[in-house]
Amino acid sequence: MSHTSVLLRESIDALKIKSNGIYVDGTLGRGGHSAAILAQLDGGHLYAFDRDQEAIEASNDRLQRISDAFTLIHANFSQMKEKLEAYHVNEVDGILLDLGVSSPQFDEAQRGFSYRYDARLDMRMDQGQPLSAWEVVNEWDYTALSDIFYRYGDEKFARVIARAIERQRIQASINTTWELVEVIKSALPQRELRKKGHPAKRVFQAIRIAVNDEMGELTKVLEDGIHLLKPGGRMCVISFHSLEDRIVKHAFVGASSTPQIDKRIPILAKDLPQAPYRIITKKAIVANETEQNENHRAHSAKLRVLERI
Ligand SMILES: C[S@@+](CC[C@H](N)C(=O)[O-])C[C@H]1O[C@@H](n2cnc3c(N)ncnc32)[C@H](O)[C@@H]1O
Repeated sequence: MSHTSVLLRESIDALKIKSNGIYVDGTLGRGGHSAAILAQLDGGHLYAFDRDQEAIEASNDRLQRISDAFTLIHANFSQMKEKLEAYHVNEVDGILLDLGVSSPQFDEAQRGFSYRYDARLDMRMDQGQPLSAWEVVNEWDYTALSDIFYRYGDEKFARVIARAIERQRIQASINTTWELVEVIKSALPQRELRKKGHPAKRVFQAIRIAVNDEMGELTKVLEDGIHLLKPGGRMCVISFHSLEDRIVKHAFVGASSTPQIDKRIPILAKDLPQAPYRIITKKAIVANETEQNENHRAHSAKLRVLERI
């Protein structure tokens, strides 16, 4: 099963790869971006992370065919700093993050990410993780469920859906994706069911984000990753929904803002401390029309780039 890399040329160009540099791909997936980075290295090294063991196994051969100047790390990207330290790497020339799930994760029925296939509720990117969608759906209380449906799924009917799940669980646990779809549908008014788009889409997205703590992971990797950059080093992040994009934008604006000085301190503008980072993408880069037509995932993709000065 393959994955078509999104904003590949744009993100690789934005990294401004130095052939002898140290690069990190936080989201290896099927190795599309990693392969493009590796192909430009000569004397440099690539460290690629994925929390999904299948991604690590599936990408190794593809990368070996290019060179052996890479190390695959099966870990969450929130652990980037500590994991790199174990390889005596304390600063890097570039970091790439291509967030979300890969097509193989989404399209493999038994991973339980998709409402298109009937499978046990799972949605774990890391199959060794104890928390899966089953626990969220069957064990989280009404408040926690309605909160994630609203915050991570922007679901207008968050409360009624959470109530319906709670009611159903009293009868029997909800074990599969299609059982969950039925509960969601039963909670929605007819006019909602007639609308375009799958009625369970938002709730499935919300559960996936919660199971994989996607917002916590992103916040942590941005904090640590920004500090790992060498002067001239760049961080490129491709996000797929507004919640992620907002976190990326906020982190980049924070890093590139001049430290506030008490207005009463007499200091000339030229002597003001400068922010150590600059935003390269004043507006996020989006996929061109051709890519959008060829790859459905590219529709919502946004690339933002930060550089250490
Ligand atoms: C969109 S895919 C990356 C595709 C890749 N750029 C390519 O071209 O093949 C995202 C990958 O990142 C991984 N991932 C998502 N969140 C992660 C995290 N917090 N830590 C490590 N890997 C993560 C997923 O398991 C998935 O394989």
